[in-house]
Amino acid sequence: MQPYATLNTGQRMPLFGLGVYDMHGEPAVNAIRYALDIGYRLIDTAQAYENEEEVGQALGQSGIPREEVFVTTKIANTVQGREGVLASFEESLRKLDTEYVDMLLIHWPVKDWRRENWKAIEEIGRSGRARGIGVGNYLLPFLHEMPDYATVTPALDQIEFSPYLVMHKEWEHCRNHGILLQAYTPLIRGQRFGDPKLVALAEKYGKTPAQIMLRWCIQQGISTIPKSVEPSRIRENFDIFDFSISEEDIRTLTGFDEGLRIIEDPMDMW
Ligand SMILES: NC(=O)c1ccc[n+]([C@@H]2O[C@H](COP(=O)([O-])OP(=O)(O)OC[C@H]3O[C@@H](n4cnc5c(N)ncnc54)[C@H](OP(=O)(O)O)[C@@H]3O)[C@@H](O)[C@H]2O)c1
Repeated sequence: MQPYATLNTGQRMPLFGLGVYDMHGEPAVNAIRYALDIGYRLIDTAQAYENEEEVGQALGQSGIPREEVFVTTKIANTVQGREGVLASFEESLRKLDTEYVDMLLIHWPVKDWRRENWKAIEEIGRSGRARGIGVGNYLLPFLHEMPDYATVTPALDQIEFSPYLVMHKEWEHCRNHGILLQAYTPLIRGQRFGDPKLVALAEKYGKTPAQIMLRWCIQQGISTIPKSVEPSRIRENFDIFDFSISEEDIRTLTGFDEGLRIIEDPMDMW
């Protein structure tokens, strides 16, 4: 019952997935396997998370056909230039134990390297070994700069986004240019779970604050990738496809915006 988006590449992508930042070893393999077992079909990793091998192991153990799982990885900030991107991508494929990724992102718009690194992932995209290519942390100035050097429009932009950090300009740009917006840290790592406004809405729908925050994304066509290593929370986060939030309450949640950013501001890289 989970919703899928059609990307500008023509790919079908689940809107909802598991972020795997800060999980390693057996707990990570077990968490990813559990998520796959209960229906998650999108896994978001990165070279910098140092757990691509665990993702590969969980995928292998799950027995789910490779083409049914959408795997994203990201080129690390420390990788600079064409040769580095191509070599690090080979390493990612090896660790993930796969012949292709579904989505390859530039993790951050590193000042001196975003042009050359983007050209390199365009090359990987043409090879078919990344079925889609996109960007991470590209706020509006970075998106506006892209036509100077890009021949391919990114399929996806993964940015920090939640009811408490509504990036209206990026959202509108993505809508207008056929780029899927993907929200990271959608739960703000729990920092607003106790907000009485949010708790009241959660009670109204008989759901948890986390479920309300995630449903707010999905219902608006925004992809999101909450992280958890704990089975009960992995399940809780996935249990958002059996209810909907009224239009009025969606607007109320959007009004929670307080510009709350918990990850580094990408504009520091401008
Ligand atoms: N592109 C980028 O630069 C970037 C930056 C940050 C994140 N991301 C991606 O986005 C994903 C999600 O972001 P995030 O991991 O930073 O933060 P998040 O998903 O907002 O929050 C994760 C934290 O909340 C806890 N949690 C999860 N579900 C919960 C629930 N239902 N109730 C209570 N606590 C819950 C988790 O703990 P437990 O694990 O103990 O459940 C974890 O500590 C990352 O894993 C990564 O894939 C990308």
